Amino acid sequence: MNERTAARGRGQEQQLSRPGVRMRMPRGGRLFLATCLGSLAVLVLYYQSIGKPEPSVGTGSRPEKSRRSPLQTLYSGDQLQLLADQKSLQGRRELLEQACLSHTKKRRLLSPEDLKHLIVDDKHSLIYCYVPKVACTNWKRVIMVLTSDGRYTEPLAIPANEAHVAGNLRTLSEFSVPQINRRLRSYLKFVFVREPFERLVSAYRNKFTLSYNTAFHKRYGTKIIRRHRTQPDPEALKKGNDVTFQEFVQYLVDPRTQREEPFNEHWESVQSLCHPCLIHYDVVGKYETLEPDAHAVLSLAGVEDMLQFPTSGKSTRTDGNMAARYFKHISPYYQKRLFNLYRMDFLLFNYSTPEYLRT
Ligand SMILES: *[C@@H]1O[C@H](CO)[C@@H](O)[C@H](O)[C@H]1NC(C)=O
Repeated sequence: MNERTAARGRGQEQQLSRPGVRMRMPRGGRLFLATCLGSLAVLVLYYQSIGKPEPSVGTGSRPEKSRRSPLQTLYSGDQLQLLADQKSLQGRRELLEQACLSHTKKRRLLSPEDLKHLIVDDKHSLIYCYVPKVACTNWKRVIMVLTSDGRYTEPLAIPANEAHVAGNLRTLSEFSVPQINRRLRSYLKFVFVREPFERLVSAYRNKFTLSYNTAFHKRYGTKIIRRHRTQPDPEALKKGNDVTFQEFVQYLVDPRTQREEPFNEHWESVQSLCHPCLIHYDVVGKYETLEPDAHAVLSLAGVEDMLQFPTSGKSTRTDGNMAARYFKHISPYYQKRLFNLYRMDFLLFNYSTPEYLRT
């Protein structure tokens, strides 16, 4: 992966050095293409031309010339019913930009490799960066409906596992650099975030306390127990299915962990998954205000009459105080180190340092 850093030039565009990469590939070929692009050491540069977005990429069937793109709608700001929402969305956008300026030193360039979490809807000119444990299954379902040409109409009719099948949705990393840049400039880019420790505890509960998640138990649980439990019994070592939150935290803050491999996406920071200081998100939605924020995005896309963001299945929703209960049993030393791991997510998205922290 490309680690070069450079001043970020606005308005420049780097051309892919190898012309003629075929874009519409059969599904099997996409992974290969993504790998190719990643290894070309290509730098992505783009600037956002607010005010005069480029014409949106048509689906070929019916050009909707008169219709505004979501990005145009957002920045024209004359849709009255959106105004209230837009005020807070604009506040978050400005806060994010300011936090990026104050807290990030080097401005790295993006490579296609960085764009694997960005899901593209060419039909509605949308780019969504998915963050696990922040309603991402439902957002994937919604985008499947939006891009399905009528094959799907009801998000919740799509099985959760199908929403996560790689290849059911297109990601920005699959495109060529000029195509990536064009989309970054003219599409509405959005991300949904959540209080970082609530998200982390939610990931722990989901992946380590539910008996059916055997893949995570095997892959991560066994390793965590081997490393962080004194005298584990053979059964636990083999199954990895009874990791405590304390052990999980020890695993996260252990420097070896990230040296060996990147964090799994369920506990990787939003900063690392979505690069919010390099990609200028137009809308930062929050899990804590999921319904109005999701509605705002769907309104900007002009599809609010066509579908609703699914908000049933609230069984997994929490009261926003779950983390406090789990952190009671974590020593101040580990709390502090854990906070440092997720510090940028707190700062960038305006989450205050939790009061229960003893650091
Ligand atoms: C940031 O958080 C504070 C405290 O929760 C809140 O009062 C403020 O409105 C937030 N700012 C933005 C831009 O969202």
